[in-house]
Amino acid sequence: VFAELKGMERGNLKISVASTANYFATQLLASFRQTHPRVTVNLDVTNREALLGQLEHNQIDLAVMGQPPDGHDLIAESFMENPLVVIAAPDNPLAGQKHIPVSRLADETLIVREAGSGTRSASERFFQTHQIAPRTGLVMNTNEAIKQAVQAGMGLAVVSLHTVSLELETKRLALLDVEFFPIQRYWFVVHRKNKRLSATAQAFKQFLLDEGKAAVTG
Ligand code: PGA
Repeated sequence: VFAELKGMERGNLKISVASTANYFATQLLASFRQTHPRVTVNLDVTNREALLGQLEHNQIDLAVMGQPPDGHDLIAESFMENPLVVIAAPDNPLAGQKHIPVSRLADETLIVREAGSGTRSASERFFQTHQIAPRTGLVMNTNEAIKQAVQAGMGLAVVSLHTVSLELETKRLALLDVEFFPIQRYWFVVHRKNKRLSATAQAFKQFLLDEGKAAVTG
């Protein structure tokens, strides 16, 4: 117990994160390992649907993902906000406009993530609610590919703000001020209900919950 308290346990941590969560998860892992340097970490980066499969087959300790669906016998605790925003190339005529009506998106081509992505299903729900059907001719399975395509002027995209901080800072992408955005999602740390978490997994879960709270309260 003493060794665990001091973070010196030689644990093993098997975690999977949604591809979109990878933009901050590795940083969190890095700071966790500062206090738990002897922990071996296995990190898998995949989409929401694959994560649910891994949880179901007991292949991982913890997942970091959007809110899981009911009925999977999972424990899920939210620890951080995940705002979804609309991005465009900086020279897009909509960039810099104020209060763009959401209906305006119906005239645009949208580049979307693959089926199975949480970002994609959340934006589909959003467009259904607002009864808008943007053209979605382009489907790509990584946030990186989507950002490149948007930069190249192929269309607009709805992505997590976590994926574009660098491009917004360097002005390679523009954030559009569209009505009803951002879509507010949350990040959850998730495990099977009947999973006996190791001391290491328990410590990492607590670390995420504490870090998230710290990020929200500044
Ligand atoms: P994803 O992100 O789009 O990479 O699956 C997870 C989520 O928002 O649920």
